[in-house]
Amino acid sequence: MDEFLQFARQLERLTGIDLTLYKRPQMERRLTALREKRGYRRFQDYFRALEEQPEILNELLDKMTINVSEFLRNPERWQALMQHLPEVAGRPLKAWSAACASGEEPYTLALLLEERGGVRYDILATDIDRAVLARAEQGYYKEHQVRSLPPAWLERYFRRDGDAYAVSSRLRRHVRFLQHNLLADPYPGPLDLIICRNVLIYFTDEAKRRVIEGFSASLAPGGILFVGSTEQFIGAERFGFSSVGPFLYRKRD
Ligand SMILES: C[S@@+](CC[C@H](N)C(=O)[O-])C[C@H]1O[C@@H](n2cnc3c(N)ncnc32)[C@H](O)[C@@H]1O
Repeated sequence: MDEFLQFARQLERLTGIDLTLYKRPQMERRLTALREKRGYRRFQDYFRALEEQPEILNELLDKMTINVSEFLRNPERWQALMQHLPEVAGRPLKAWSAACASGEEPYTLALLLEERGGVRYDILATDIDRAVLARAEQGYYKEHQVRSLPPAWLERYFRRDGDAYAVSSRLRRHVRFLQHNLLADPYPGPLDLIICRNVLIYFTDEAKRRVIEGFSASLAPGGILFVGSTEQFIGAERFGFSSVGPFLYRKRD
């Protein structure tokens, strides 16, 4: 077994995260850079440091994948999503924002549902990275992070706090943040909507297939899956979906 694979096995035992389910070249490049930055020449020595020093492990968990996000990323796709939202009667719409990073995605959904009005909803927002979830939960964003939102929405759904914008309780009370590993933990359900963008690209084809199967099982009939750029999949039917627009899939009845 090569050195990286051995490291992957050890890290799985330590954290439950299986690096072999991520595309190797990208992951190896990223972790090699982190290892070198910390001054270790071999993965074995780096692993010993990870075991002993929580801040090195936290750095790895924080930097394994990029956790950049944006409010209303690709506005036309959000518009399409709003047109295809399933109707639910007599209960709140149940949504899951998976791999939500710093929270822009679940808050965008809450904002759009508030703008629509007359919808009750609960949003579960998850990520593997506790540090990024803590930021999401606080809901503080810098000006450049909210620049894609119209001023009227900033006024309505944020509070100015010094040079930051704080998400109002009107949105926050609908969003619950939880740590969740898409490659290891059980999936919630039944759900009406799953948003999962810009994380499947990091996974191997086999891992991506398993995640999509999991999403399909989690969605109620008629539920919608919203994926990111380069994450569309062919053969939607195979997973029990029909494709209803670019980046949108509906769970078949
Ligand atoms: C590029 S961000 C995507 C943020 C947001 N969904 C968006 O598109 O703007 C990728 C996120 O995936 C998370 N991630 C990576 N592996 C994961 C896993 N196995 N389970 C859950 N989240 C994971 C990272 O922590 C990171 O926050």
